Amino acid sequence: ELDPVERAFQERIDAGQKVEPKEWMPEGYRKTLVRQISQHAHSEIVGQLPEGNWITRAPTLERKAILLAKVQDEAGHGLYLYCAAETLGISRDEMYEQLHSGKAKYSSIFNYPTLSWADIGAIGWLVDGAAIMNQVPLQRCSYGPYARAMVRICKEESFHQRQGFDILMKMVKGTPAQREMVQDALNRWWWPSLMMFGPSDDASVHSAQSMAWKIKQNSNDELRQRFVDQTVPQAEYLGLTVPDPDLTWNEEKGGYDFGEPDWTEFFAVIAGNGPCNAERLNARQKAWNDGAWFRDGLVAHAEKMTSRRAA
Ligand code: 3HC
Repeated sequence: ELDPVERAFQERIDAGQKVEPKEWMPEGYRKTLVRQISQHAHSEIVGQLPEGNWITRAPTLERKAILLAKVQDEAGHGLYLYCAAETLGISRDEMYEQLHSGKAKYSSIFNYPTLSWADIGAIGWLVDGAAIMNQVPLQRCSYGPYARAMVRICKEESFHQRQGFDILMKMVKGTPAQREMVQDALNRWWWPSLMMFGPSDDASVHSAQSMAWKIKQNSNDELRQRFVDQTVPQAEYLGLTVPDPDLTWNEEKGGYDFGEPDWTEFFAVIAGNGPCNAERLNARQKAWNDGAWFRDGLVAHAEKMTSRRAA
């Protein structure tokens, strides 16, 4: 049973109105958004690592420039999203602390290694493709700053997805060894990409409330289905085989039936036990620690300027 203030809030949500930073909101609504937006920001920041791994080894100068720009975009998305979360009353230092201490989650997908150049193509195509599928509806999220941040982020993600597909198009037209590399990348990235949408609906603890608050517009399984329906024809276009023996077109539902992701693996990865969790966290901790002298310098400078003004 909602009290009158909460009921009025829910009515505004139901009427499709946006909630803005300084307005009253239920504590649970605020907390859910801080959780989701900060996890999203951390995903963008940690997401730079697997691709950054290939900047020095991109096959041509042009590919290197494109990849650099893409990784830089991810940094921008992260900072943008930290700002959106800050409007809810959490500080950036607190969010960093949560990431560096291992308390905060970030997307499971970034705990897998990038073993070949084809992985960079597969990430753009599948990972950014899944991100777009998830984030386009978030442009209509009830919380204004998050919804608006998604508009620009989705535009940039579209460029990222095209650059990934373009890498793979080039490679599948190459040598048999290159085609094999692409198939191998799809084999390794397919299931983790499906896991990006989160646990199945019956295991998703937050979905019902987040959907009632219009933070989420669609359930995890709905978006996963859309992603499969969109991506399978693209795999066929590339001449690749999706590594799922249960994948079949279902005429009646107008979509594909597909196998179940390995949820044991998913829960292990989000609990910190994926192939690269320790490596990713170490990289972020090291970057933070290596930047200490710079932050100290900024604070010392700011203090000097303040005391000069006071004198
Ligand atoms: N990776 C890590 N954790 C995940 C996850 C995943 N793929 N999917 C779910 N989880 C976590 C949830 O965060 C939650 O944990 P918590 O209670 O500790 O916060 C738990 O598993 C239960 O899942 P629910 O389905 O109940 O949680 P949500 O309703 O929050 O849904 C979500 C999960 C769909 C990921 C949702 O949070 C969401 O839409 N987030 C915004 C988008 C986002 O974070 N995207 C990151 C993708 S990568 C990216 O954008 C970078 C790009 O440049 C590639």
